[in-house]
Amino acid sequence: MFLDTDFIPSKYTQTVENGNFLWTAPSNIALVKYWGKKENQIPANPSVSFTLNNCKTITKLAFEKKNISTQLNETGSEFSFDLLFEGKPKEDFKPKINKFFERIAVYLPFLKDYHFTIDTENTFPHSSGIASSASGMAALAMNLMSLEKALNPSMTDDYFYQKASLLARLGSGSACRSVKGQVVVWGSQANIKGSSDLYGVEYPYVIHDTFKDFQDTILLVDKGEKQVSSTLGHDLMHDHPYAERRFAQAHENLDKLISIFENGDLEEFIKVVESEALTLHAMMMTSMPYFILMKPNTLQIINAIWKFREATKIPVCFTLDAGANVHVLYPNVVKENVLQFIKDELVGYCQNAQYLCDQIGNGAIQV
Ligand code: PMV
Repeated sequence: MFLDTDFIPSKYTQTVENGNFLWTAPSNIALVKYWGKKENQIPANPSVSFTLNNCKTITKLAFEKKNISTQLNETGSEFSFDLLFEGKPKEDFKPKINKFFERIAVYLPFLKDYHFTIDTENTFPHSSGIASSASGMAALAMNLMSLEKALNPSMTDDYFYQKASLLARLGSGSACRSVKGQVVVWGSQANIKGSSDLYGVEYPYVIHDTFKDFQDTILLVDKGEKQVSSTLGHDLMHDHPYAERRFAQAHENLDKLISIFENGDLEEFIKVVESEALTLHAMMMTSMPYFILMKPNTLQIINAIWKFREATKIPVCFTLDAGANVHVLYPNVVKENVLQFIKDELVGYCQNAQYLCDQIGNGAIQV
């Protein structure tokens, strides 16, 4: 296991003038939710997610060494970069990247020495209500690690991926679970070897075949801007009356998943996953100020899934992110039945009848 200080490099052995890298990183869907954090994006409780496959960000990072490393950019920052989204300059994303660079500068001292062009796009539709921060920050972190590896080629693979996850965490907490592995744990948990608050790790124990090709169909209920950002939502856990019990419950649920992952007990899996989704939203509803991110159609879908499951005994369940969209989770063997059910009964609750078919994937890929 690495300590925070292990990720602060001393000296680089190589010099690199210019070049570019291209990485894709996927989104992920949490089964046990991260909601509440401490300083520096340290989670208040551990979480675990399935890595997705199709919903991803593709980011090209071009870099060129600057002549004078201390030159300030137009906003008075020491970092120099251009940002393109779908090929066009996107000024409103820049403050977020600038803040990300400030947070990770201590881990990547070379950042100030280069001018970067970050060219990024998502495979999922723009403003679909699917957060691109996890895949986006992970893809950028992978590219930055490729540059660090060029400066220090002796770096091990283990260090490369764990540091990439640490950097991604500093961009957006859940992004640290979008780096490597199908099932990823983030946050220190006594019964999960190697788990850390600093970065996500590949789930280290046995996973039953039933989870290996799990499906996630994302029903786009509401594509609008969220009324409450997840940053604010996390913050509201600080003086939350149920926070301590909730954080303890996340540990308990993660423990339960260890045996569920091993024996493939979908009935128990569904209980944990749906309870986690509703608890996340219960925390929002019981914050001060309180808020509701679900929409009437979110509840219609949940009820329809429960009815369908009761009638057919098909092991399909839902989870939710910090928004109104519904992730429908099910094993690959029942795919045909569930997709038919979605087309027949759920599409009517989706905005413009839109949904995205995804499944469990392996993490970031260098192109
Ligand atoms: O990574 P953030 O700060 O956007 O938080 C995401 C939190 C949830 O998506 C609601 C839960 C999770 O664990 O992904």
